[in-house]
Amino acid sequence: MTPRLIAIDGAAGSGKSTLARLLAMTLGLPYVNTGAMYRALTLAALREEVDVEDEDALVRLMETLDFTLRPAGRPEEPQPNPRELWIDGAPPSDELESAEIEANVSAVARHPGVRAAMRAAQRALGEGGAVMEGRDIGTAVFPDAPVKLFLVAAPQERAGRRVEERGSQEVAGALLERDRRDALVNPLVPAEDAVVIDTSDLDVDGTLGVALAVVAERAPDLLPGSTQP
Ligand code: DC
Repeated sequence: MTPRLIAIDGAAGSGKSTLARLLAMTLGLPYVNTGAMYRALTLAALREEVDVEDEDALVRLMETLDFTLRPAGRPEEPQPNPRELWIDGAPPSDELESAEIEANVSAVARHPGVRAAMRAAQRALGEGGAVMEGRDIGTAVFPDAPVKLFLVAAPQERAGRRVEERGSQEVAGALLERDRRDALVNPLVPAEDAVVIDTSDLDVDGTLGVALAVVAERAPDLLPGSTQP
Protein backbone atom coordinates (compact mmCIF):
# COMPACT_ATOMS: atom_id res chain seq x y z
CA MET A 1 0.00 0.00 0.00
CA THR A 2 1.26 3.49 -0.82
CA PRO A 3 1.96 5.38 2.39
CA ARG A 4 0.20 8.71 2.95
CA LEU A 5 3.60 10.25 3.04
CA ILE A 6 5.01 13.52 1.79
CA ALA A 7 8.82 13.58 1.84
CA ILE A 8 10.50 16.98 1.95
CA ASP A 9 14.17 17.64 1.59
CA GLY A 10 16.47 20.41 0.49
CA ALA A 11 19.39 22.54 1.55
CA ALA A 12 19.42 24.30 4.93
CA GLY A 13 17.73 27.68 4.57
CA SER A 14 15.75 26.61 1.51
CA GLY A 15 12.51 26.95 3.46
CA LYS A 16 11.87 23.23 3.86
CA SER A 17 10.85 23.31 7.55
CA THR A 18 8.43 26.18 7.03
CA LEU A 19 6.85 24.44 4.07
CA ALA A 20 6.72 21.04 5.80
CA ARG A 21 4.94 22.47 8.85
CA LEU A 22 2.44 24.45 6.77
CA LEU A 23 1.74 21.56 4.46
CA ALA A 24 1.14 19.27 7.44
CA MET A 25 -1.31 21.76 8.90
CA THR A 26 -3.10 22.23 5.57
CA LEU A 27 -3.43 18.49 4.96
CA GLY A 28 -4.10 17.51 8.60
CA LEU A 29 -1.08 15.20 8.69
CA PRO A 30 1.54 14.90 11.44
CA TYR A 31 4.77 16.84 10.89
CA VAL A 32 8.00 14.95 11.52
CA ASN A 33 11.29 16.82 11.38
CA THR A 34 13.81 13.99 11.25
CA GLY A 35 16.75 16.38 11.66
CA ALA A 36 15.48 16.94 15.23
CA MET A 37 15.83 13.19 15.84
CA TYR A 38 19.51 13.23 14.89
CA ARG A 39 19.96 16.39 16.93
CA ALA A 40 18.25 14.78 19.95
CA LEU A 41 20.61 11.81 19.79
CA THR A 42 23.56 14.20 19.55
CA LEU A 43 22.33 16.12 22.61
CA ALA A 44 21.92 12.87 24.55
CA ALA A 45 25.46 11.82 23.55
CA LEU A 46 26.92 15.13 24.73
CA ARG A 47 25.01 14.91 28.01
CA GLU A 48 25.94 11.29 28.69
CA GLU A 49 29.49 11.85 27.48
CA VAL A 50 29.14 9.24 24.76
CA ASP A 51 31.87 9.58 22.12
CA VAL A 52 30.29 10.67 18.81
CA GLU A 53 32.68 8.25 17.08
CA ASP A 54 31.41 5.26 19.12
CA GLU A 55 28.75 3.78 16.83
CA ASP A 56 27.67 0.94 19.14
CA ALA A 57 27.25 3.25 22.11
CA LEU A 58 25.22 5.68 19.98
CA VAL A 59 22.93 2.87 18.78
CA ARG A 60 22.39 1.82 22.42
CA LEU A 61 21.70 5.43 23.39
CA MET A 62 19.18 5.71 20.55
CA GLU A 63 17.15 2.93 22.21
CA THR A 64 16.66 5.11 25.28
CA LEU A 65 15.07 7.96 23.32
CA ASP A 66 11.31 8.14 23.02
CA PHE A 67 9.92 9.54 19.77
CA THR A 68 6.16 10.07 19.63
CA LEU A 69 3.57 12.14 17.79
CA ARG A 70 1.59 14.56 19.95
CA PRO A 71 -0.62 17.55 19.22
CA ALA A 72 1.47 20.56 18.27
CA GLY A 73 1.12 23.59 20.54
CA ARG A 74 -0.89 23.60 23.73
CA PRO A 75 -3.98 21.42 23.95
CA GLU A 76 -6.18 24.43 24.84
CA GLU A 77 -5.21 26.18 21.60
CA PRO A 78 -7.84 26.17 18.87
CA GLN A 79 -7.60 23.80 15.92
CA PRO A 80 -5.96 23.24 13.46
CA ASN A 81 -3.67 21.32 15.69
CA PRO A 82 -1.98 18.47 13.82
CA ARG A 83 0.42 16.23 15.60
CA GLU A 84 4.17 16.66 15.46
CA LEU A 85 7.29 14.95 16.71
CA TRP A 86 7.87 15.00 20.46
CA ILE A 87 11.07 13.76 22.03
CA ASP A 88 11.04 12.20 25.50
CA GLY A 89 7.60 13.64 26.18
CA ALA A 90 8.33 17.23 25.13
CA PRO A 91 8.37 19.23 21.90
CA PRO A 92 11.85 19.62 20.34
CA SER A 93 13.69 22.22 22.44
CA ASP A 94 15.71 25.21 21.25
CA GLU A 95 18.76 23.48 22.67
CA LEU A 96 18.72 21.22 19.61
CA GLU A 97 19.76 24.24 17.54
CA SER A 98 22.84 25.08 19.65
CA ALA A 99 26.31 25.55 18.16
CA GLU A 100 27.53 22.46 20.01
CA ILE A 101 24.88 20.28 18.42
CA GLU A 102 25.51 21.92 15.05
CA ALA A 103 29.21 21.00 15.36
CA ASN A 104 28.61 17.34 16.27
CA VAL A 105 25.44 16.21 14.53
CA SER A 106 27.11 15.34 11.21
CA ALA A 107 29.46 12.94 13.02
CA VAL A 108 26.54 11.21 14.75
CA ALA A 109 24.49 10.99 11.54
CA ARG A 110 27.38 9.40 9.67
CA HIS A 111 27.20 5.95 11.33
CA PRO A 112 25.28 3.29 9.36
CA GLY A 113 24.01 1.71 12.60
CA VAL A 114 22.62 5.02 13.77
CA ARG A 115 20.99 5.61 10.40
CA ALA A 116 19.38 2.14 10.41
CA ALA A 117 17.92 2.74 13.88
CA MET A 118 16.66 6.16 12.78
CA ARG A 119 15.05 4.71 9.64
CA ALA A 120 13.14 2.17 11.73
CA ALA A 121 11.93 4.87 14.14
CA GLN A 122 10.92 7.12 11.24
CA ARG A 123 8.97 4.36 9.48
CA ALA A 124 7.05 3.69 12.68
CA LEU A 125 6.22 7.39 13.08
CA GLY A 126 5.12 7.72 9.44
CA GLU A 127 3.00 4.57 9.33
CA GLY A 128 -0.32 6.41 9.49
CA GLY A 129 0.79 9.19 7.12
CA ALA A 130 2.95 12.26 7.66
CA VAL A 131 4.79 15.15 6.17
CA MET A 132 8.35 14.07 6.87
CA GLU A 133 11.35 16.30 6.43
CA GLY A 134 14.92 15.05 6.05
CA ARG A 135 17.74 14.01 3.87
CA ASP A 136 16.96 10.39 3.05
CA ILE A 137 13.19 10.22 3.52
CA GLY A 138 12.30 10.03 -0.17
CA THR A 139 15.25 7.79 -1.04
CA ALA A 140 15.76 5.38 1.89
CA VAL A 141 13.03 5.71 4.53
CA PHE A 142 9.88 5.92 2.38
CA PRO A 143 11.01 5.31 -1.22
CA ASP A 144 7.33 4.67 -2.11
CA ALA A 145 6.15 8.08 -0.88
CA PRO A 146 3.72 9.42 -3.52
CA VAL A 147 4.91 13.01 -3.08
CA LYS A 148 8.58 14.00 -2.82
CA LEU A 149 9.56 17.64 -2.78
CA PHE A 150 13.10 18.93 -2.95
CA LEU A 151 13.63 22.62 -2.19
CA VAL A 152 16.53 24.65 -3.49
CA ALA A 153 17.37 28.35 -3.17
CA ALA A 154 20.23 30.62 -4.16
CA PRO A 155 23.06 30.53 -1.54
CA GLN A 156 22.63 34.22 -0.64
CA GLU A 157 18.92 33.72 -0.06
CA ARG A 158 19.56 30.65 2.12
CA ALA A 159 22.15 32.40 4.31
CA GLY A 160 19.86 35.42 4.68
CA ARG A 161 16.95 33.23 5.82
CA ARG A 162 19.13 31.45 8.37
CA VAL A 163 20.36 34.75 9.80
CA GLU A 164 16.75 35.87 10.13
CA GLU A 165 15.79 32.57 11.74
CA ARG A 166 18.67 32.29 14.17
CA GLY A 167 19.37 36.00 14.62
CA SER A 168 23.12 36.13 13.95
CA GLN A 169 25.59 36.55 11.11
CA GLU A 170 27.80 33.83 12.53
CA VAL A 171 25.27 31.19 11.62
CA ALA A 172 25.60 31.95 7.93
CA GLY A 173 29.23 30.75 7.99
CA ALA A 174 28.35 27.77 10.20
CA LEU A 175 25.59 26.86 7.76
CA LEU A 176 27.97 26.69 4.82
CA GLU A 177 30.46 24.68 6.87
CA ARG A 178 27.83 22.12 7.90
CA ASP A 179 26.47 21.86 4.37
CA ARG A 180 29.99 20.99 3.32
CA ARG A 181 30.45 18.36 6.08
CA ASP A 182 27.04 16.78 5.46
CA ALA A 183 27.70 16.62 1.73
CA LEU A 184 30.82 14.52 2.31
CA VAL A 185 28.94 11.63 3.92
CA ASN A 186 25.36 12.13 2.93
CA PRO A 187 25.05 13.99 -0.34
CA LEU A 188 22.09 16.24 -0.87
CA VAL A 189 20.66 14.48 -3.89
CA PRO A 190 16.96 14.55 -4.73
CA ALA A 191 15.17 11.25 -5.24
CA GLU A 192 14.75 10.53 -8.95
CA ASP A 193 11.01 11.11 -8.73
CA ALA A 194 11.23 14.24 -6.55
CA VAL A 195 9.85 17.55 -7.75
CA VAL A 196 12.47 20.27 -7.36
CA ILE A 197 11.09 23.66 -6.26
CA ASP A 198 13.34 26.73 -6.44
CA THR A 199 12.17 29.01 -3.63
CA SER A 200 14.63 31.88 -4.34
CA ASP A 201 11.84 34.09 -5.70
CA LEU A 202 8.90 32.57 -3.86
CA ASP A 203 7.41 33.67 -0.55
CA VAL A 204 5.89 31.19 1.91
CA ASP A 205 2.42 31.26 0.32
CA GLY A 206 3.89 30.90 -3.15
CA THR A 207 5.91 27.87 -2.08
CA LEU A 208 2.87 26.30 -0.41
CA GLY A 209 0.85 26.88 -3.59
CA VAL A 210 3.41 25.08 -5.74
CA ALA A 211 3.62 22.22 -3.24
CA LEU A 212 -0.18 21.81 -3.12
CA ALA A 213 -0.29 21.72 -6.92
CA VAL A 214 2.18 18.80 -6.83
CA VAL A 215 0.05 17.03 -4.20
CA ALA A 216 -3.06 17.56 -6.36
CA GLU A 217 -1.30 15.93 -9.26
CA ARG A 218 0.47 13.06 -7.51
CA ALA A 219 -1.77 12.23 -4.55
CA PRO A 220 -5.12 14.03 -4.79
CA ASP A 221 -6.54 11.78 -2.06
CA LEU A 222 -4.30 13.61 0.44
CA LEU A 223 -6.07 16.93 -0.17
CA PRO A 224 -8.61 18.05 2.44
CA GLY A 225 -12.17 17.21 1.50
CA SER A 226 -11.10 14.42 -0.83
CA THR A 227 -13.55 11.54 -0.86
CA GLN A 228 -11.00 9.16 -2.34
CA PRO A 229 -9.53 6.56 0.02
O1 DC B 1 17.79 19.12 8.90
P1 DC B 1 18.72 19.40 10.08
O2 DC B 1 19.66 20.55 9.82
O3 DC B 1 18.01 19.61 11.37
O4 DC B 1 19.62 18.08 10.20
C1 DC B 1 20.55 17.91 11.24
C2 DC B 1 21.60 16.89 10.86
O5 DC B 1 21.06 15.58 10.73
C3 DC B 1 22.36 17.16 9.56
O6 DC B 1 23.72 16.88 9.83
C4 DC B 1 21.83 16.16 8.57
C5 DC B 1 21.35 15.01 9.46
N1 DC B 1 20.16 14.35 8.95
C6 DC B 1 20.31 13.20 8.25
O7 DC B 1 21.44 12.75 8.04
N2 DC B 1 19.20 12.52 7.79
C7 DC B 1 17.97 13.01 8.02
N3 DC B 1 16.88 12.35 7.58
C8 DC B 1 17.80 14.24 8.72
C9 DC B 1 18.93 14.89 9.17
